[in-house]
Parts: sequence; C-alpha cells; structure tokens
Amino acid sequence: MNGKFFVFDGMDGAGKSTAVQALAQQLTQRGHRVCLTREPGGSPLAEEIRACMLKDRETAMSMETEVLLVFAARAAHMRDTILPALARGELVLCDRFTDSSLVYQGALGGADVNWLQDLIRRTVPRPPDQTFILDLPVETAVARMQGRGMENRFDRAGRSQLEKIRQHFLIRAQSSARLYQLLDAAQSPEQLVSQLVQAIDRALKA
Ligand code: TYD
Repeated sequence: MNGKFFVFDGMDGAGKSTAVQALAQQLTQRGHRVCLTREPGGSPLAEEIRACMLKDRETAMSMETEVLLVFAARAAHMRDTILPALARGELVLCDRFTDSSLVYQGALGGADVNWLQDLIRRTVPRPPDQTFILDLPVETAVARMQGRGMENRFDRAGRSQLEKIRQHFLIRAQSSARLYQLLDAAQSPEQLVSQLVQAIDRALKA
C-alpha cells in the first residue's frame, strides 16, 4: 500500500473538478502514475449509485436513504478503485470524500454525526494522507455556477445555505493542520493548480 491518497473538497462553485483534472494532467506529465476519481462515484457500481442519488424525483429521498446511498457508493469505490490504485503505488486524487458527507448530510442535513463517523470507520480502511479544502466567497461561487449554467439537486442551495456549507468546510479545514490544507479558490485557475502541484510535491517529500 505505498501509493498516496489526496482528497479535494469544498463548497459548490469552487472550480474544484476542473482544478483536480488539470492537476492530474500536470502530475502525469511529471511522471507520476495518477488515479483521478470522484465521489459519489469513482467505480462502475458507485457511478450507478451516483446517478440514482442525483436524479430529480417528485418525492425527495429521506436523509437515511441518502446517507446509505453515499456510503454504499463509498464502500464500492474504496474496494474497487482506491485500494487497488494505492496497492499499485499510484497517486489517488479524489474529487470530494468524507468531508462532504459530514458537511452535506451531517451539518446541513442533520444526519447523526456518530452514525456518519461509524460508517466512515467501516467503509474507509485507509484514510486520505491529506485533504485540500478549496474555499472562496459565496458571491464568487454563485457567479461561477451561474456562468456554468449547470445545477443538480445538491447545487440548488441558496446563498445562505452556501454560506453554511462554506463555514462547515472551514471548520473541518481548521480541525487538523496535518490532515487539511486550506486553499484560496478565488485566485485564477492557473494559480490554484500551480499551488496544488507545489502542495503535492511537498506532501510527497514529507
Ligand atoms: P460534485 O461531483 O462535486 O457535483 P458538481 O460537479 O455538480 O459540483 O458532487 C455532487 C454533489 O454530491 C455535491 O453537491 C455534494 C454531494 N455530496 C454529498 O452530499 N455527500 C457526499 O458524501 C459527497 C461525496 C457528495
């Protein structure tokens, strides 16, 4: 198990997915073997569960269903994608992970945090080496999302909801200087990616 596991998380509209894709490209060019993946999803079964989670429905699913689907996807993703990639010595770059569950389902959705922590213990035998939290002001995030013209049922949060999401990610980022790094996602995409490349270089040397 000699690969490294890096997670990128944060509020909607931070440009996280684009930044992680560009980062994966740069690391590959530098000769690293990279496994770029995402949550919910990241394995064939987990992607099926993701489609089921994000689909619009007349009757919204209950929080219990949502939590169990997120963790069903995570268990499959961990076993079928992340652990094998780490065993091959790859750099695993994962777009969202357990912090999203603790923020969206836990802090915002009201799911019991002890239940979530227990599910994390049971589904994540190998925690991330480091988690990068991408942060930016809500207004900038909203402008970016409007520019993209895309939304799913998790993106339709109003500004006050987004502010809560931002604050909860900030609290998580401040919980451990060893496990988390907070990055300014309001800077240009090029600057952000170059900061990420440097941060990964440092983490690999540590
Ligand atoms: P994401 O792929 O980041 O969507 P987008 O590219 O549209 O920003 O994530 C999809 C949604 O899933 C996102 O709004 C957050 C939500 N999510 C949870 O609610 N819990 C979780 O554990 C994860 C990983 C994601």
